[in-house]
Amino acid sequence: MLELRSLRYQPATAAEPVLREINLSLPIGQAALVAGRSGSGKSTLLELICGLAEPSGGSILWQGEPLNGRQRRWLCGLVFQFPERHFLGLSVGQELKLGQRRLPYDTAEAVLQQVGLGSVSFQQAPERLSGGQQRRLALAVQLLRNPRVLLLDEPTAGLDWSVRDEILELLVELSGERVVLVVTHEPELFTGLIPAQQCWSLNQGVLQPALQPA
Ligand SMILES: Nc1ncnc2c1ncn2[C@@H]1O[C@H](COP(=O)(O)OP(=O)(O)OP(=O)(O)O)[C@@H](O)[C@H]1O
Ligand SMILES: [Mg+2]
Repeated sequence: MLELRSLRYQPATAAEPVLREINLSLPIGQAALVAGRSGSGKSTLLELICGLAEPSGGSILWQGEPLNGRQRRWLCGLVFQFPERHFLGLSVGQELKLGQRRLPYDTAEAVLQQVGLGSVSFQQAPERLSGGQQRRLALAVQLLRNPRVLLLDEPTAGLDWSVRDEILELLVELSGERVVLVVTHEPELFTGLIPAQQCWSLNQGVLQPALQPA
């Protein structure tokens, strides 16, 4: 269980808090969804959870123990909203190997298959993939790390219908053994996949239970 308790974020450069008194409990085994309009604080929330930013107040706990930033970076895997800004490898193969001591060929091949990139060559340059393929490569990189908490920022952006359903099903499957939190501005796509009690809406930094999608 990952818990956010009275989480608050107000960077020095902001006149108003970006996030206000966020309370959220995320169990293993059920994907959760936070919906909100542009600028509501969705990406900021994920950055705080995964240790890329430090909260101004409140705490983040894993199995009841408060975590510092370093522990959160270790525990969490974030698939960024714009993954193309974060690629470091010169090829798909290099990108998958980053941070891995050794990566058996079969494992790399299996993870690409899992995210629907089975037909992409290891030699391909990440920046030459389509937007949807880049998002799936970023997911593959995180899956290799096998994080206990998987955070996905707008995972359906840039995906066409044929792969979108596959990715959505994969997210639900992945949530079986880890915490999975999706933030999105298009919650209707997750209808039927994420139960209503696992859905929240974020509005100007305030988190509230949402009844959509059922
Ligand atoms: N370090 C910062 N300094 C000042 N303002 C910030 C900072 N970080 C975030 N903000 C503000 O917080 C608000 C929320 O930003 P955030 O990127 O989290 O929104 P979002 O919901 O992810 O939007 P989008 O759907 O467009 O991705 C924005 O108004 C942004 O300008
Ligand atoms: Mg965002």
